[in-house]
Amino acid sequence: MSFTLTAPARATGAAGYAEIHQSLQGLLAGERDLLANTANMASLVFHLLPDLNWAGWYFLRGQQLVLGPFQGKPACVRIDMGRGVCGTAAASRQSVRVADVHEFPGHIACDAASRSELVVPAMRADGGLLGVFDLDSPLLSRFTAVDQQGIESAVRALLLASDCG
Ligand code: SME
Repeated sequence: MSFTLTAPARATGAAGYAEIHQSLQGLLAGERDLLANTANMASLVFHLLPDLNWAGWYFLRGQQLVLGPFQGKPACVRIDMGRGVCGTAAASRQSVRVADVHEFPGHIACDAASRSELVVPAMRADGGLLGVFDLDSPLLSRFTAVDQQGIESAVRALLLASDCG
């Protein structure tokens, strides 16, 4: 398969997410391997969304989240359920948007540059938790409701296109 990145270098707003979604569908077409698809999705989002310093996956392994494919600086490998922003999103099965990570009790600082964060849970078709997709930004209040909806939609597309067993 060959793939050309056609979306703008700095995608913003709902229109930006529509283009990201289109690029993502192109990346996922004809490939159901979860590791390959989560790796490409992390790269796509990291390179197309402005003002990110980290984008990647944590997968549920027993009672912990374990680092998966990502772009950005090396990150903490294991996060207990309920801990930090990722563990909170995983435990509640709800997206968590944090305007200022310094104000979030228990925030885990993998990169001191991170100031705001968006974490979206990824649920398997059987209702179980696969893991979470985590975005970090060096800007305060980087993530809006449009970002949350756009990333939730991208995560759903990824899950539908991949074998998650
Ligand atoms: N800040 C996250 C930890 C993961 S890193 O940001 C890559 C948290 O509080 O769960």
